[in-house]
Amino acid sequence: MTHQARNILVTSALPYANGPIHIGHLVEYIQTDIWVRFQNMRGNRCIYVCADDAHGTPIMLRARQEGLEPEALIDAVWQQHRADFADFSVRFDNYHSTHSDENRFFSNTIYARNKAKGHIVRRTITQAYDPLEGIFLPDRFIKGTCPKCGTADQYGDNCESCGASYSPSELIDPVSAVSGATPEQRESEHYFFRLADFEQMLKRWTRGGHLQREVSNKLDEWFEAGLQEWDISRDAPYFGFEIPDHPGKFFYVWMDAPIGYMASFKNLCDNSDDLEFDDYWKPGSQAELYHFIGKDIIYFHALFWPAMLHGADYRTPTAIFSHGFLTVDGQKMSKSRGTFIKARSYLDHLNPEYLRYYFAAKLGSGVEDIDLNLDDFVARVNSDLVGKVVNIASRCAGFIHKRFDNRLSAELAETALFDEFVATGETVAELFEQREFSRAVREIMTLADRANQYIDEKKPWVIAKTEGAERELHLVCSMGLNLFRLLIGYLRPILPATSERAEAFLQVEPLTWQALAQPLLDHGIARFEPLMTRVEQAQVDAMVEDSKESLESSDSGAAPTGPLAADPIGDTIDYAGFAAVDLRVARIVAAAQVEGADKLLQLTLDLGGETRNVFAGIKSAYAPDQLEGRLTVMVANLAPRKMRFGLSEGMVLAAGPGGKELFLLSPDSGALPGMRIK
Ligand code: MSP
Ligand code: ZN
Repeated sequence: MTHQARNILVTSALPYANGPIHIGHLVEYIQTDIWVRFQNMRGNRCIYVCADDAHGTPIMLRARQEGLEPEALIDAVWQQHRADFADFSVRFDNYHSTHSDENRFFSNTIYARNKAKGHIVRRTITQAYDPLEGIFLPDRFIKGTCPKCGTADQYGDNCESCGASYSPSELIDPVSAVSGATPEQRESEHYFFRLADFEQMLKRWTRGGHLQREVSNKLDEWFEAGLQEWDISRDAPYFGFEIPDHPGKFFYVWMDAPIGYMASFKNLCDNSDDLEFDDYWKPGSQAELYHFIGKDIIYFHALFWPAMLHGADYRTPTAIFSHGFLTVDGQKMSKSRGTFIKARSYLDHLNPEYLRYYFAAKLGSGVEDIDLNLDDFVARVNSDLVGKVVNIASRCAGFIHKRFDNRLSAELAETALFDEFVATGETVAELFEQREFSRAVREIMTLADRANQYIDEKKPWVIAKTEGAERELHLVCSMGLNLFRLLIGYLRPILPATSERAEAFLQVEPLTWQALAQPLLDHGIARFEPLMTRVEQAQVDAMVEDSKESLESSDSGAAPTGPLAADPIGDTIDYAGFAAVDLRVARIVAAAQVEGADKLLQLTLDLGGETRNVFAGIKSAYAPDQLEGRLTVMVANLAPRKMRFGLSEGMVLAAGPGGKELFLLSPDSGALPGMRIK
């Protein structure tokens, strides 16, 4: 098999820097990451870049609300996002920010080149203005009564009650969602990108095989409706890039956001020896460029973006791959039902590989929505991954260990069966290439059934008791492990962490498609360790429960939910409310790992005579022996809570976004266990 290695640059949409990553986002980042890993396993050079989308009014307002500079807010969120992605094995070659020098440079360049060709014009418009805050208001920051059905408290441009869409100026009794003031209408000069200048180019491009069929059809509707001029500027105060030579005017966030793809790649080039920016972005480049996005942002990527690039003499994308939206148990993610699940809440309870697998098993190449059914999730992960795939290894490894000194046989028992698996591997590869992941998974699981059937027929546990059948036992178990190796190799783009552990068990280099075609013979392996445990319904329930909780405290009801999203400063409490919390100095007299818990440590706390047992979610940041003996602060009068692992009698206090960034509070020296904190 020889084919020319391809040079591929891949992006996912840039998540807003005003909120945490949630499982809806993860559909996209997991889909992209699987495709990128697959390409690299095929021997192509596939680079994956992304960044935070750091500009815009919601981010500016959120920073104000938190009493932070926008830079401090986006920095904190950037750290959180990176930790969330890393923990889901979403592996970017670079994760940058749109608030960067590179992005300013390319934004200015693309603006200037389009302007020089007459594609950008100025015009005065009238807009809603909040006189108290001193800002122009985006549509969704205006609330009022629906002009169609009369429901109060509806946002900017559409009614949640009757579904009508309208312009914010039609709202009855409009108020600013930021300050509550009645908006005024004010004039201001704006800059517009003349999309219609690109109509011919775009019609050719959108029909040129760069889009999914259903997306091209949608675009035809937009062409029929006519291409409108696009407002690319905003007035100060705005968190973004000031337009060169136009003080007080800023680029609209959606103007510089996609340029962030280039900026992130440029930043990577500047830090690498063998990547040239122009090889990927010059017109006529042979490199492939793909953008993975959600269906809600097609207009920006399939119209504005290619037009802006073309107008600025850069290449246009090879293709845009859009996906549908995630629903949970058949409904939109909901904070009250506990199905608005943050990446971090998921990680607190479940193995990320489960979700990667489940999404893969659901994803196709189209734009249909995908549903996470929580019961199906548990059933499917347990039956497919634990029951079928991992099981094959555990059924064979013991014999190889006990009877053959951890060495595989020098011959392959069933060459035809092995060849069949290798041949199906090409079908699987083609399906991955086409982003038909659910079909790839189905093929792989059919092979897993086949492998289990082989072992069921041969019955190694019977052979093991048969006199003189040593050689046969060796052949059968080695065959089983060879089939397991092919399965885990095909699943590798989906299950990177599990595959890595399987590679350690098999004592092989990171698997590639090409390497898989050769069997492992006369080869030493390591002792088998369980590669994956079953999902328990209780873990899923606990995650849903946590997702309900985390909301009550953070849902301020104000416009954009989001930033430091987990914890905006809450409503004020009175002194009595504060005094009701009994905070005490406690000494950690013992700390221990908790069997079966990914995040928890069990702490034994001395409160100056009284001893408490507390389960704390701090395992990511502390080893037990770092904790024993030190003083900390605990909530001593929290109602005891029954957990899967036992009763938790209180809570210790820590700060930070989570993961390694978690800081247990300590009193100054001199404090004694049991002292009350006031
Ligand atoms: N900042 C813009 C993208 C700029 S790209 C130059 C944005 N950010 S986002 O945080 O709202 O969304 C990031 C990506 O996640 C988008 O592609 C969006 O479609 C996707 N998803 C957000 N919620 C989603 C679901 N519930 N389900 C599936 N994808 C979802 O848009
Ligand atoms: Zn209505």
